[in-house]
Amino acid sequence: MRILLAGGAGYIGSHVAVALLDVGHDVLVVDDYSNSTPASLDRVERITGRSIDVVEADLADLPASRAELSGERFDAVIHLAGLKAVGESVTEPSRYYRTNLSSTLNLLDIMREHAVSKLVFSSSATVYSPAAEGVENLDESQPSGLGITNPYGWTKAMNEQIIRDVQRSRPGLQAALLRYFNPIGAHPSGLIGEDPAGIPNNLLPYVAQVAIGRRDRLAVFGDQYPTPDGTGVRDYIHVMDLAEGHLAALQHLEPGVDTFNLGTGEGHSVLDVVRMFSDASGKDIPYEIVAPRPGDVARAVADPSKARKRLGWQATRSFAEACQDAWRWQSQNPGGYPI
Ligand code: UD1
Repeated sequence: MRILLAGGAGYIGSHVAVALLDVGHDVLVVDDYSNSTPASLDRVERITGRSIDVVEADLADLPASRAELSGERFDAVIHLAGLKAVGESVTEPSRYYRTNLSSTLNLLDIMREHAVSKLVFSSSATVYSPAAEGVENLDESQPSGLGITNPYGWTKAMNEQIIRDVQRSRPGLQAALLRYFNPIGAHPSGLIGEDPAGIPNNLLPYVAQVAIGRRDRLAVFGDQYPTPDGTGVRDYIHVMDLAEGHLAALQHLEPGVDTFNLGTGEGHSVLDVVRMFSDASGKDIPYEIVAPRPGDVARAVADPSKARKRLGWQATRSFAEACQDAWRWQSQNPGGYPI
């Protein structure tokens, strides 16, 4: 198939591109490089020995995107285009809603115009409502779309709803909503990885920058949670496992909309991450405990059994391997991609 990969130059998109090219699909990336760089796609070509077609367009701009894609043929869409900084979404909500919702609405229009019915959408575990007492791992039947604490998270929940409603009006549409837990790591080549602009919001890139000496110390957001060591517990999934989840979802699409967690089912605390990254890098990771971050939950871990049963997919790479691969990327590219 020829896959339109929206947001394909970003951290997750570039790894999905590798997974697609490695099994013989062709890839057409659409990206506006607002939070990414074409350098990642050059690296994807180096890793795979394949070439990628690229269209530079802002998917929130329908006339421009339509024009850029008018002569293109594609069989399916994987949609990972969007803004993703939680804190920024609180200070710039209009930009987040406009960009993240318009890009989905526009892609759905463009799919109809091209008679394309297959869609894989990048959603997030952030759509789950805070887990009820006694719920350990989140499965797809857990309530979602209530109690979301920031506009970024709302755009994910709203995009899920938009896709469900459009599918109802267009029954041939086949969509998979993939709820990512916490993607970490990098391709084992060390050629592509996460390259956040400015101060990283997420734990792993922050820890990696402390290890390489770009930041002094990690601030651990709270140590009084009801977890084994008091720090927050998350389900960290190797980004290549996550990327392969997109392939599996694509292969198993059927008419309708289905939702899948992409996670490992295992939880690790912030201090586990510090220890594991320190082992992987051979560096000390100084840290201090500070106040909890507003909106954080104690624990968010997937029940990934639905994806295993229905997609034949499960994460196979270990937490240690993810930290080692993240360190290889960080140490080979201490300043991120070349500008
Ligand atoms: C966050 C977002 C989530 C988004 C995801 C994208 C929030 C509340 N959630 O998830 O909506 O989908 O990123 O990747 O922002 N931590 C520290 N110090 C740091 C950074 C993080 O202690 O400097 C802790 C956090 O409190 C948390 C864990 O590390 O317990 C993971 O944090 P992070 O990487 O930001 O991911 P999430 O908060 O799970």
